[in-house]
Amino acid sequence: MRPARRGVNPGGFCLCQRREPPNVVNSGQPALTAGPEFCKNFDSNRMANTILVGAQWGDEGKGKIIDYLTDDADIVVRSQGGNNAGHTIVIDGEKFVLHLIPSGILRRGKICVIGNGVVLDPVSLVGEIEGLRARGIKVGKNLLISGGAHLVFPYHRALDEQREVLKGKNKIGTTKRGIGPAYGDKAARTGIRLADLMNTALFRAKLKARIKENNAVLTSLGAKPLNAKKIEADYLQAAEILRPFVTNTVVFLHDAMARGKTILFEGAQGTFLDIDHGTYPFVTSSNTTAGGACTGSGVPPHRVDTVMGVIKAYTTRVGEGPFPTEDDALSDRLHEMGREFGATTGRARRCGWFDAVAVRYSNMVNGIDQLAITNLDGLDGVAKIKVCVAYKLDGKKITVLPTQVDEVERCVPVYREFPGWLTSTETATKYAELPANARRYVEALAELIGTKLTIVSVGPGREQTIRLQGKTS
Ligand code: GDP
Ligand code: IMO
Ligand code: MG
Repeated sequence: MRPARRGVNPGGFCLCQRREPPNVVNSGQPALTAGPEFCKNFDSNRMANTILVGAQWGDEGKGKIIDYLTDDADIVVRSQGGNNAGHTIVIDGEKFVLHLIPSGILRRGKICVIGNGVVLDPVSLVGEIEGLRARGIKVGKNLLISGGAHLVFPYHRALDEQREVLKGKNKIGTTKRGIGPAYGDKAARTGIRLADLMNTALFRAKLKARIKENNAVLTSLGAKPLNAKKIEADYLQAAEILRPFVTNTVVFLHDAMARGKTILFEGAQGTFLDIDHGTYPFVTSSNTTAGGACTGSGVPPHRVDTVMGVIKAYTTRVGEGPFPTEDDALSDRLHEMGREFGATTGRARRCGWFDAVAVRYSNMVNGIDQLAITNLDGLDGVAKIKVCVAYKLDGKKITVLPTQVDEVERCVPVYREFPGWLTSTETATKYAELPANARRYVEALAELIGTKLTIVSVGPGREQTIRLQGKTS
């Protein structure tokens, strides 16, 4: 793994000097001299604490890249979102889709953490654990869950559905997993947390009050009231299965860092689904951008070394909302190839050209140090590839994604065309094996976004991943 970039500031001193105790592993190497690049606390062999974010509208291939990077990490943390996420990993042709459990679970000897910022449905989480175990994946002491994580209940799902019906043609196109209403309860301070579920009497009392209020709302909307007894029984049953995993994950992560362990934060959703920075209201209900990893885990910003942004070589979006570069012909082509169907809901994803204006903004919000480009092979058969480099809004050229969705809707992309490579990239294992036009294309994307290219992915498999060192800075 390349050395941490954030560990070294341009002023010439290593930021880890601020760390107490220093986040170091003994590499057995001679001590490095303090200087502009290294200090005694800096070990170039150790992986940096890394936040991985989706830099588009989700489904960028985060799960695949997390699985790849986990080889070098000790701990993988989910810090936001819920089972609206669907992260796909393909190992030796076998496909796994993870929703709540970090993608690191598929590698032996790694610890996975579900942080306080996640909203979790205990029944669905138990199902996911059992599903993995049935396929021979160990889920035991390698999984820790924060007692501070808020719970998703059937009334959240019912409200999610009802609100979509009420919105009619303005619906968001949610995953109907109850994510919005669950985060709504958290913000309204009416949520129930996993730690509450661990205390049966307290849980029963809290649930009773919440069911009473929510059944009144649901029936007023014409929906059926929920069966309180059944929910209580299902959740208390799940509680006993989850109990061994529940802990103070903040303390765990800080202890681990003090012992020199490396953390990989697995972002869910994508930048333009962020509740603050996305195409509101066509967003999810959490901070999907880099800052969310800190609030959702209790790891402070100065312990983060690097941010990796993951993009597809084109763009996809599931659900409603503006999508300036959407292109029906490209959608048809990708769907005909059997690609771009949602990992959680199975919905066909909307597809379009790469939007460099949007991803440049994403770089601003996340501070992307390293770029991973996935699904390059999706463009293998395209003769002329378009990339959006500006928008025309009401006749005026702009180079920043507008804040208001009605303005984003009116944006007409200004494209730059790139010649395709018209040959398969799927078997390339080294950067030099990629066709020259493919290299030009990915390098142009990195340059347009203003960041450094570090990974190119040419297929869903673990082995279809090309790591670059020091290319295009
Ligand atoms: P995530 O939510 O960001 O983890 O992404 P998803 O798993 O929802 O969707 C990404 C899809 O692209 C999955 O089907 C992956 O298996 C697949 N994928 C990831 N990288 C590549 C790639 O480089 N090429 C191809 N063909 N598929 C890829
Ligand atoms: P991963 O982690 C793509 C979308 C939904 C909808 C909007 C709000 O796999 O990238 P929600 O159920 O969260 O209230 O839905 O957000 N959405 C995603 N789109 N990938 C995801 O996760 C998504 N999670 C939510 O389709 O448009
Ligand atoms: Mg996904």
